[in-house]
Parts: sequence; C-alpha cells; structure tokens
Amino acid sequence: MAELTYRTAGESHGPGVVSILEGLPRGVRVDTDFIDGELRRRQGGYGRGARQRIESDVADYLGGVRLGRTTGGPVAMLIPNRDSRLDDLKRTRPVERPRPGHADLAGSLKWLVPDCRETLERASARETAGRTGMGALARCMLKDLGIEVFGFVRGGGPDPAAMGDFKVDESNWRELRDAREASEVYLPDPAASEAMIASIRQAKIDKDTVGGFVEVHVFGCPPGLGSCVQWSDRLDARLAYAVMGIQAFKAVEIGLGTECGRRNGSKVHDPIGFDADRTDERNLGFVRESNNAGGLEGGMTDGMPVVVRGTMKPIATLLQGLPSVNLVTRKPENSQYERSDISAIAAASVVAENVVALEIARAVRAKFGGDSMEEVSAQMETYLRLARELGSSAT
Ligand SMILES: Cc1cc2nc3c(=O)[nH]c(=O)nc-3n(C[C@H](O)[C@H](O)[C@H](O)COP(=O)(O)O)c2cc1C
Repeated sequence: MAELTYRTAGESHGPGVVSILEGLPRGVRVDTDFIDGELRRRQGGYGRGARQRIESDVADYLGGVRLGRTTGGPVAMLIPNRDSRLDDLKRTRPVERPRPGHADLAGSLKWLVPDCRETLERASARETAGRTGMGALARCMLKDLGIEVFGFVRGGGPDPAAMGDFKVDESNWRELRDAREASEVYLPDPAASEAMIASIRQAKIDKDTVGGFVEVHVFGCPPGLGSCVQWSDRLDARLAYAVMGIQAFKAVEIGLGTECGRRNGSKVHDPIGFDADRTDERNLGFVRESNNAGGLEGGMTDGMPVVVRGTMKPIATLLQGLPSVNLVTRKPENSQYERSDISAIAAASVVAENVVALEIARAVRAKFGGDSMEEVSAQMETYLRLARELGSSAT
C-alpha cells in the first residue's frame, strides 16, 4: 500500500543496523553509490570520534530490491557493524556512572537495571545510519519526481563567527552544496566553517563538546503535500517529529521559526501574487517574494521550498566528566567516559537531510498513491495539470 513507514533495529556494538522501509512503489532506481555516499558522509565531519575510523558503512539489501530497482515489497537493509562486540563482556564494560544529558540514567530507571550499557547501546546515534540509508533510498524516488533535498550545517558553538550568513534558494543551492563538500563541518561558508572548526578544536583541548544548527531545504515539492485535515497528517508536524526524533535534537523550526513570535503579522506572512509568465511545472504562477512560511501553510506544501531547521545540543559524553552518581554505590562520582564524538553536528546534518526526505516521500506516497513508479509519476503530472487549471473554468 502507499503508506510509507520505516523502522530500525540493532545496537551500537551489535552485529549491525537493520532497517525496514515499507511503502515505496515498484521501479525506483536504487542508486547504491548515492546511498553509500550518504552513509559515508554521515560518518564524516570534523570532531568525530575514533569509531568512524573503524566503520566503513555500506548498505546490503536483504529484500525489496531486484536488479537495481525496488520490487514494491518492504526494503530490508543491513548496515553491518565492524566494531561488533556486544556479547564480549571484557570489551563492553558496564556503565554505572550515568552521563548527564545522555539516556543512561532515565534508561536505567525505566528498565530497572544499574548497568546503563543496554540503554546506551540502543540510544546511540549509530542507529541513524539506518535512517540515513532509508532516507537516501527514498530520495532516489524523489529525484525521479524532480524533488531535491539539501542539508547543511548553519553554524554552532560559542563563537558568533561560527554562523554562516547566506541565503539559500533554487538558484544557488547547488553551488552551496559544492561549498559544503569543501567544508570539514559541512558549513558552506568558508569563514564560518573555519571558526566552527576552531571551536571544536578548542573544545577538544578543554575536554568539552560542541552542538549547533542544521538546515534542510527541499526544492521541487508539488503543492498540497501533507494535510490540514488531521493534526497527525500536517507535514510541518511530521517534519518536526522526524527531526526531533534525531538523537540530541532539542528544537525544530519551520521557515522563520521562533522569530515569528517577535514580529507583527505584516512582517511575517508572505504576500501572494500571480504572474502567468512564471508558471512552471511546480510554481503554477503563484509568486511569493519571501518564504517565511518555509514552504508550509496549514501543514501543506504551498509550492515554495520547504525549510526546516534543527538545533543539536552538545554531546553529553565529556572527557572531563560531569557530576554524577554511581548507580551501584549511590556515591557521588564523575560520569563515565565512553569513546565519543566532540561534535557530531556535520553528521547530524546528513541525518536531518535524510529524515526530512523520508517525510516528504511519505507525503508524496499519501497524495499520489500507486503501486509503480510509472503510476506515481502519472498521478503527479495529472494533479499538476489540474492545479494549473485551477479557477480557469470560473464564470
Ligand atoms: C550523528 C550523531 C552522533 C552522536 N554521537 C554521540 C557520541 O559520540 N557521544 C554521545 O554521547 N552522544 C552522541 N550523540 C547524541 C546521543 O546519541 C544523544 O544525546 C543520546 O542518545 C540521548 O538522547 P537526547 O540527547 O536526545 O536526550 C550523537 C548524536 C548524533 C545525531
């Protein structure tokens, strides 16, 4: 059926990350180079820990793909872990001094176990390899429909200079993507990128960690994805859920986001114009000179690019440790150190890009239905033709 759903299973140091993506039509070209490229990008970025030198992520397809195309069945994907040692108790010591800000204490209380190991193994962002792989596969379908997703790091950390000041639109995003590729923190502004790298370098010296802000822009969405009919089908809500569902994300904004609360309506809402000469496949002639709404009004795409921003807190595992309590002795002790990233903001931008893609793909499947790629494309074309004719028969 056309409902797109996705799940993951697997522990950080288990045999691998298993993902099931259900609801893609038959006939999506599975671009394995692109998908494995996204997995590689997720492993990268300045400030990451030693784990990424051990792993070399590649997706294996255990179901739902034949001769390079989806079959219409659930896609089962396995990303093996090289650092697999969960049952080797000498190499996976108990964690009894929970890290403030990590899942350790809450999980130990939830599952009634003083060793935080099992909680942290599943809470770990190793799992995001699965969501990245599935999102990249969903993007193979989106690209065939002319929908492109672009994610990057906007900035972060304590230095105000580590914040990119640039606009993103349909005309410049490919150039920005090249600049992102040239940045070790996936921040397409060379000066801000340097400042951010310096912040992470300093945090390493200080045995501290760095968070940041990521942004995802989606180009080419037809209008009408999502719905205002039920809260749970609003695309803005689904996007927020997906991005907040990434480990360590603590805020999500759409378009102008929290800034809306500081401005009057006349300075927020994007005036609507019409210019028949600017009618193209997606825009249908409705012109918006600004996009404070981030491409979403009433929980539905309005034809403008979708813009989602996420805030990631700094990593909770600090080499200096933080005040904590030993769960066995109940005595105060510093939190335990586990091999860790200093900053994972670059990797997180890749995860965000791909979970946003999953939600856009989910909305595409809900709107256009169909069992095969041919049907999805034909349905979308029919809808766009009807939308272009909107109002033309009015008397
Ligand atoms: C790509 C990525 C990599 C991460 N790497 C680490 C890490 O190395 N060490 C760590 O303590 N937390 C890391 N985190 C964050 C934790 O997974 C997260 O803080 C933890 O699961 C608790 O969830 P919460 O922060 O949402 O409360 C990472 C998050 C992401 C998105």
